[in-house]
Amino acid sequence: MKRAVLLLVGLGAGAAVHAQDGSYLDPSLAPEQRVELLVRQMTLREKVGQMNQYLGLERQRTDKPQVAAQMEAELKEGVVGSTLFTLTAEEGNRIQRMVESSRLKIPVFHAMDSIHGHACYYGTTVFPTAITMASSFDLALVEQAHQVTAMEMRATGYHWAFWPYMSVARDARWGRVGETFGEDPLVVARMAAACVKGLQGENGTGPNQVLACAKAFLGDGQSVNGLNFAPMDLSERTLREVVYPPAKACIDAGCRTIMAAHNEINGTPCHSHKGLLTDLLRGEWGFEGYVVSDWMDIERLNWIHKVTPDQKTSVEAAVNAGVDVHMQGIDFIEPLEELVREGRVSEERIDRAVRAILLDKFRMGLFDENRYVDEEAARAALATPSSRALALEMARKAPVLLKNENQILPLSKALKSVLVAGPLADSNALVGDWVYAQPPENIITVLDGVKALVGNRMEVRHARCGELMEITDEDIARTVDMARNADAIIMVIGDNDSRVNEQWEDDSRRINTSGGENRARSDINLVGRQLEMLQQVHATGKPVVVVLINGRPLSVEWVADHVEGILEAWQPGMMGGQAVAEILFGEVNPSGKLPMTFPRSAGHILNYYSHRPSFYYKNYIFGKTEPLWWFGHGLSYTTFAYSDLSVPKQVAAGQPVPVRVTVKNTGNRAGDEVVLLYVNDVISSVTTPVKLLKDWARIRLEPGQQQVVEFALTPSDLALLDKDFNSVVEPGAFEVMTGALKAEFVLEGNPQ
Ligand code: GLC
Repeated sequence: MKRAVLLLVGLGAGAAVHAQDGSYLDPSLAPEQRVELLVRQMTLREKVGQMNQYLGLERQRTDKPQVAAQMEAELKEGVVGSTLFTLTAEEGNRIQRMVESSRLKIPVFHAMDSIHGHACYYGTTVFPTAITMASSFDLALVEQAHQVTAMEMRATGYHWAFWPYMSVARDARWGRVGETFGEDPLVVARMAAACVKGLQGENGTGPNQVLACAKAFLGDGQSVNGLNFAPMDLSERTLREVVYPPAKACIDAGCRTIMAAHNEINGTPCHSHKGLLTDLLRGEWGFEGYVVSDWMDIERLNWIHKVTPDQKTSVEAAVNAGVDVHMQGIDFIEPLEELVREGRVSEERIDRAVRAILLDKFRMGLFDENRYVDEEAARAALATPSSRALALEMARKAPVLLKNENQILPLSKALKSVLVAGPLADSNALVGDWVYAQPPENIITVLDGVKALVGNRMEVRHARCGELMEITDEDIARTVDMARNADAIIMVIGDNDSRVNEQWEDDSRRINTSGGENRARSDINLVGRQLEMLQQVHATGKPVVVVLINGRPLSVEWVADHVEGILEAWQPGMMGGQAVAEILFGEVNPSGKLPMTFPRSAGHILNYYSHRPSFYYKNYIFGKTEPLWWFGHGLSYTTFAYSDLSVPKQVAAGQPVPVRVTVKNTGNRAGDEVVLLYVNDVISSVTTPVKLLKDWARIRLEPGQQQVVEFALTPSDLALLDKDFNSVVEPGAFEVMTGALKAEFVLEGNPQ
């Protein structure tokens, strides 16, 4: 007999009586052992409860008081596994106290969409958004930013980040492009893996680490018509070449959890797709963590997709396909219990999910010293000077200088006056989506940044303007008048994805947002009267530069043709205004490169650089066919000369291919350059992209300094998927490209 006390607890009429043995509470035992000690004494209801998630109690109390009452009862009963969007550390602690009064005292995971910082929580570090981070091509910085996010999450009592996005975005109409790392599978794969490493460290369970949740599984960056939730009709080739690699990279990086995608894929909703969630994910890729549904998507198997007649069948389909956690609400544990009793879902299936979840709860110390957080200490951990410095560093490295004719940029600090104008000049739009209320003083707008940087040496004026889609005649007239009297004008225009002014998810309240989740557009123009305002300001003949704040590529053909200086700032986060001002006035040399191609219009979509050879064989009959700016475009205030690209002439099959190129700073400012290395398989048995990114290096060069940048292409970098989708390397000529240079080598071997 063990030293633990045995208690007999009746669980109500008809329920099994389970002996309670507190041995699993012993922190000296190994987590795996504690899981076994706990699982064997859990009732079926307690087990399926671990698989259920609820929206935080306070949110429910406002919107759905009856659900809040049920949730509270279930917390005390010990049949809630996790929450999402609890509001505060205090609320998180309160919930943990509720479950501590339950029979087995199993702690609850608190999950959050912490996607570019723990930014749905008040007073945290708001990093640049994913598309912005991607422009920096700086993986180490991305990893560090996610370490900060994880630290802030744990300090405030959260354990599970619904992040990273691993979807490849190819359609700029989709509102969520700003949440992605852009169009290239390698960039997305490396960036997403860096997020996983930053958030999880070893395995997500250290004191300053959280569990990562790669999403969306699978492919939601390519839904038809750019509409969120819409079907994905993807060829097997696109799936294998473009969609799978980032997901696989997240699994290989140890990502502990996965979120299924809202969409259907080739006729099967992802949430009931056993082929994806079990055969591919677990079978082929060896995933051992757990899969969470997206918000109400088990319900949507019936509501939207119409593949099941009712919720019980939806739960059966989802769990048997491989979904382990239901996000969110009341309609899950009863049907799942019944399904197990009826033999339609096996208890082993339930146990697999529960074991994985409990293992993390034990490893994180949630049964022990880490169940509660210190609310005072939490406040002190947020947005510290060093975290803000990191957000600033990223905001400096990411913006992309799209155009700089006549070297209009950087603006001279000797100007007498500058006008900061446009609807986004003093707007929170620069934090992007998935940021809720923040202390206003934490967000530096472009106007704030310009004032702080040059306000003591020149007159900085602001042309007040209505919201993005409410620009009036007066706004335009005022701006034009002020422009006439300014030495230079900084027009801040673009999109607004921000929810900072929103209380809670309610799309109807997001009237002045033009991007973000569920904010797809049928065109990608500048919304409202922004272009009209810009054109009138431009007509004054004064020097004008445009700062774009946006999460998706915009069709800004007129701007590209007429405005001399264009800086793509994307959504540079809480310190963004400072970084933008520093770039505009030359304190920081811009170094970002586009992670996504800019189409001329929505009608030009799809536009991406790694297209097949025939993609642009013919042109549209009216207007230009090719994009405004390609993936990889980005200027600097200095100039870089690429020379001496060298590869061996002949390479033996199976050997790495050394590639060298010399990059020299030929201008008179120090600067960073992102050196991108592409490969093209010249003649192949199936069509291959005209060029495909294989590696990159971010280097810093002083004026006159040069560096030999070395890469090594691996055999798999040269592989293609043949007509039967086998990965093969075909001998023959390959081209290597970087900058404007191209070199060729021949891979030896017998043609297959
Ligand atoms: C959503 C999103 C997903 C997010 C989840 C929880 O519907 O698609 O990305 O993690 O809700 O907020």
